[in-house]
Amino acid sequence: MNPKSGDSRVSALKPSSKMMWKLIEALRDGSGARTFVAIRNAHISGVSYDNIGDSGREFLEDLAAAGVRARIRTTLNPGCADIDSNPYGIDERTILNQRRIVEAFRKIGVDTTLSCTPYEEHQPLLGEHIAWAESSAVIYANSIFGARSNRESGISALAAAVTGKSPNYGMHIKRNRIPDVRVDVDVEDIDEARAGALGYLLGTRIGSSIPFVSGVGFRERYKLKSLLAAASTAAPMPLMHIEDITAEMEWGRRMAPKEVENRIGMDEIEETRERLSCDSEEPDSILLGCPHLSIEEMSLLVRDLGDRKFDKPVFLLTCRQISRLAKELGYIERLERAGATIIVDSCILWSGLKSLGLKRPATNSAKACFYLRNSMGLRPRLCSIRECLRL
Ligand code: F3S
Repeated sequence: MNPKSGDSRVSALKPSSKMMWKLIEALRDGSGARTFVAIRNAHISGVSYDNIGDSGREFLEDLAAAGVRARIRTTLNPGCADIDSNPYGIDERTILNQRRIVEAFRKIGVDTTLSCTPYEEHQPLLGEHIAWAESSAVIYANSIFGARSNRESGISALAAAVTGKSPNYGMHIKRNRIPDVRVDVDVEDIDEARAGALGYLLGTRIGSSIPFVSGVGFRERYKLKSLLAAASTAAPMPLMHIEDITAEMEWGRRMAPKEVENRIGMDEIEETRERLSCDSEEPDSILLGCPHLSIEEMSLLVRDLGDRKFDKPVFLLTCRQISRLAKELGYIERLERAGATIIVDSCILWSGLKSLGLKRPATNSAKACFYLRNSMGLRPRLCSIRECLRL
């Protein structure tokens, strides 16, 4: 039995709190855990109507109608469309259904942040047990803050939100966080696109192993975000210890194997960037915000933009909270004046991409390149924000 695909004890039940308890027990049994850990914070994925469809929406509405409620602070990943307005010609049925999904989560007591960077809202403490879905957020929380989360699915994160518990296995247990491979990277300072290429290369080389990485010469959070998001796209890697950067790196250094098994230099990073990228074709648009843009990235964009205007369509993805802050700081006004469109509530794979017919977007995210190519059949170019601005 695969507990994540459901079992008969669960599927025979109607959506209810009891079902959520049965599910979390089935997940515990299936994972081999004997106990639960108390969870203080959950983050749920599986929000997009494009992905979960009518059956997913109905399931959530039934849970809400049955009075199922989250008992801990819980946030929500993005959906496939802005739920308040529709300037991109997305079909009305999609918008309506996406709205109903968000409303069901709201009734369940979830904070409908529609953001894939929940750490912008809640920075977990060292050793804090959380249950987050969204692979890029999980690896970020485990690595940068030393939080403890497995890579949850949408449904297991929902069960954790309702029960306040998660099976005690994997990343919740300290010994499972010991690095099993040592990697030496020879890069002084690289931009966020190359940081993503490095992460992707690390993921393809070492898979789900936990690396101790030395020689990373950059510290900026947005570059680390790009590195970690790409690593967790290429492989189910839940945690990366990075020398002088991540929360448990002193301990990781002591526990890591002494032998360096992998060395990575600039040539291989550039080769990986080229492999993820369609450099030969002129991009028809610019897509930034996978994971969602932080206020730091908005500010860099405004600074690098100067007085220029964009000469191709530019879409910037972020959540409403960051967008509000960016508005207060004057960034949104400046970016919109230059021709950019701010997209909220949505993932980079948002329904507007299809309706607008974009084919060759430039993006600074290796993770986005992977999905735009493999899920949407597009021909993306991987380049930094600065390079995007010169296109
Ligand atoms: Fe976020 Fe979607 Fe990228 S959820 S990390 S914008 S693939």
